[in-house]
Amino acid sequence: MVTEHEDYASKILAETARITRITKSKEKTGRVLMVTGRGGTGKSTFAALASRYLKPPLLLCDIDPDQSLGAMLGIDLEATRIKTEIGREVPIKSISDLTSDIEDEDALMELGGGELTVKLPLLLQWYTQYRSDQFDLISLGPKWTEGDYRSANFLFEFIVPNIGKNYAHIVIDSPAGLEHLNRRVVGSVDDLFVVVDPSAKSLKHIERVKKITEHVGIKYVHFYIVGNHEFDDEATQMFSNTGETFLGRMAHDDRVREYNLKGRSLWELPDDSPACVSVREILGKAGYEI
Ligand SMILES: Nc1ncnc2c1ncn2[C@@H]1O[C@H](COP(=O)(O)OP(=O)(O)O)[C@@H](O)[C@H]1O
Ligand SMILES: [Mg+2]
Repeated sequence: MVTEHEDYASKILAETARITRITKSKEKTGRVLMVTGRGGTGKSTFAALASRYLKPPLLLCDIDPDQSLGAMLGIDLEATRIKTEIGREVPIKSISDLTSDIEDEDALMELGGGELTVKLPLLLQWYTQYRSDQFDLISLGPKWTEGDYRSANFLFEFIVPNIGKNYAHIVIDSPAGLEHLNRRVVGSVDDLFVVVDPSAKSLKHIERVKKITEHVGIKYVHFYIVGNHEFDDEATQMFSNTGETFLGRMAHDDRVREYNLKGRSLWELPDDSPACVSVREILGKAGYEI
């Protein structure tokens, strides 16, 4: 059963997302990189490694409910506590957590009064931002309660338009598949990186990403293909002829596997390790000053 308040809250979220889209879409923000692709290709690895070489200030956004980007950076979000504006220590919230709170009348009261449209950007910054010297991290998080991700997606839509101007670069790591694109979790991207494995499925996937982004109106400036660590010369040849820009392949690196296994941050991989070297080259080809 949807309560009156839940109904009100999700309408407000949808409406505020719409207004934000209209009024703020032209505002200048940091360069937005979105990494997408099929499951297990190496999206999070690429996002984690690429973010090492981007000029700060840097915002990382994890829209995979698995929250694997944080894990690859050695962060245990579930154990993370943050200080609110008034110095209270509270567990960090995912976007889904905050959405549930907004949909729950009592929880919303606890977050303080005021106009929700004005308060939303503040709530996002106060409760959902993991901060470190190197980067900030926001995660969409798993949705435990019933219902779908629609409201959480609306809330996510605020992030880039509202706080994107505070950052030079914003990296978005995606879940597997195409659902997040279908739901238009992000409206506008500078560089869309599609990480592919050497398979016919990935070739099809590229076409689907193009079709869906066009259909739902996700705008991007560049569309890039990145080969994963399983690529060989034959695959490189094949994916170089898709008509899209193929930037190169991520080198296979045993230490990536080892670090992931041990929960060690990929930011600690030595700069000269093969995966790091290849990701730097890929970013260079995409026009980043490294
Ligand atoms: N360059 C690489 N060298 C070795 N293993 C890799 C490399 N890139 C990814 N992997 C491994 O492949 C698996 C999937 O990578 P991940 O980045 O989690 O994919 P995705 O985010 O697309 O699901 C992980 O176990 C990771 O350790
Ligand atoms: Mg991932």
